Amino acid sequence: MSAEPGGVTAVAHANIALVKYWGKRDSTLMLPATSSVSLTLDAFRTTTHVELLDAPAGRDEVVLDGEPLAGTALTKVLAFLHLVRSQEPRTATAQAARVTSTNEVPTGAGLASSASAFAALAGAAATAYGLDLGRRDLSRLARRGSGSASRSVYGGFVVWHAGDLTDPARGDLTSYAEPLPTAPELDVAMAVAVLDAGPKKIGSREAMAATVATSPYFPAWTEHTEADAAEAADAIAAGDLPRLGEIAEASAMRMHATMLAARPAVRYLAASSLAVLDAVADLRAAGVGAWATMDAGPNVKVLCEGADLDVVAAGLRGIVLPGGGAPHVLLARPGPGLRIEASAALPAGVLASGAAEEPA
Ligand code: DP6
Repeated sequence: MSAEPGGVTAVAHANIALVKYWGKRDSTLMLPATSSVSLTLDAFRTTTHVELLDAPAGRDEVVLDGEPLAGTALTKVLAFLHLVRSQEPRTATAQAARVTSTNEVPTGAGLASSASAFAALAGAAATAYGLDLGRRDLSRLARRGSGSASRSVYGGFVVWHAGDLTDPARGDLTSYAEPLPTAPELDVAMAVAVLDAGPKKIGSREAMAATVATSPYFPAWTEHTEADAAEAADAIAAGDLPRLGEIAEASAMRMHATMLAARPAVRYLAASSLAVLDAVADLRAAGVGAWATMDAGPNVKVLCEGADLDVVAAGLRGIVLPGGGAPHVLLARPGPGLRIEASAALPAGVLASGAAEEPA
């Protein structure tokens, strides 16, 4: 079989969870313990090109930012390509793929995201192998690469449903992301305070598993998160940013509290993170609507109204961090969903069923 010339390029943006995903109920199918809610950003995007090679599957080549990928990251990508090929009717003769990916994340920002990476890979690989997937199935597929990637298939505010909890096969079919109805007047932005990450901490996948296995707070976390996701969706539909901000900050703090209770504790909060959390509280006390969220690292992301972004950024840049110096601050606004661009050489019909650009 000959390779398709040209290949497929897909672009996906990072998303930041406002109601966090922390914990899986099935780590093979990548089913989350709870639903989560996120905002896709216009910054931090991944562009991924997949072309099929005249070589049998097993001879895949993966290049990230100009360097051959290695280690765990490579293992995850190869497993994902295998998954895509296993869904493809021509499995027996499936060809290897060359994956070339670029992350546009400011150097040293520590924000490289598996969400944009696996959303872009899902779009490019599924299309290159001729899978005719709609958005929902692309989200389910991206989920198998990295849970949060299911949400980067869509722009703006997104919910990722936990899905049917009674049975894994039904869960697999019903755990996907979709865009949330959003009040048109809801104008949000995010300032990211980039802090020194120090020595590399435990990765989110391992940290999540340790939390599920050892944190006595995990059942309480799952119990409250489902209600938080529903309330966040209501706030987004109603255009109620203060309510959304409060839920988002509470969800992030509860997630960190839950992992701090693991044994040994999983701790991403740094002294510099606390300094930023204080500054966000000061901004609120001064009447500026600003709410903090944090993920599996020390950086703090601050949700605010679009019109307040400059004031919030100035507030964050004015912080004196415990070790001296101020945080580097990046600005972001809502961004678009997954975009897939196939070469003209692809068979007709490959882009059917909603694989075209998703408006933000
Ligand atoms: C803290 O999606 O990176 O960012 O599913 O194991 O790949 P895997 O984990 P990942 O975890 C994201 C965790 C988080 C919260 C969130 O994005 O909801």
